[in-house]
Amino acid sequence: MLLGRDGDGSALSAEEVVGNVYTTLVASQDTTANSLAWTIYLLHTHPTAWYRLVEKARHILADETVPRDLEQARSLTFAEACAQETMRLRPVAPVLFLEAVQDTQVGHVRVTKGTTVSCLMRRAAVDETNVRDASEFRPVRWLAGDKSMETSCPKNAFRCLSARDLDSAPVVTW
Ligand code: HEM
Repeated sequence: MLLGRDGDGSALSAEEVVGNVYTTLVASQDTTANSLAWTIYLLHTHPTAWYRLVEKARHILADETVPRDLEQARSLTFAEACAQETMRLRPVAPVLFLEAVQDTQVGHVRVTKGTTVSCLMRRAAVDETNVRDASEFRPVRWLAGDKSMETSCPKNAFRCLSARDLDSAPVVTW
């Protein structure tokens, strides 16, 4: 950030650097610590998942304690499934507030410019119509081939609104 230059040679101002550092610290430290703490708690209370995680990690990492590169990290699919399942049940940001920068429509809801939209991140993620045995910690549901999340949403714990919620809603204007 300090050394980077735009095409015209201009650099970030001191104020912009402070803003970016502040955002990164606030956005990264608490989110990661909170999500990791819940992951450890849920694995501690679900030993079958814990043993599977350890077994897979030993198989892939062998004598290493951390992945040697991104490719090896990506092959730890069960570890990723544990993280996704934790963020589904215990999202660090259960509500997001977004502001429409232009008139738009989300599903059947018309949203006018300047409107603040509250996205309830957790609601669809713990709804039995989207996720079978929704209250249970079952990381395998994130693995390829598992059918316990029959939703038209991509498998991503960050998704806030299920397409079904939007399709069944009447068209309204806020
Ligand atoms: C488990 C860890 C994390 C979780 C659960 C998490 C979650 C989120 C969520 C829900 C948002 C809002 C997305 C949206 O408004 O659409 C967000 C935004 C953001 N996160 Fe994270 N985050 C994590 C880790 C990090 C880390 C490690 C960094 C940086 C090193 C980071 C940097 C940011 C930034 C800069 C934004 C704002 C992006 C924007 O508004 O364009 N996050 N994060």
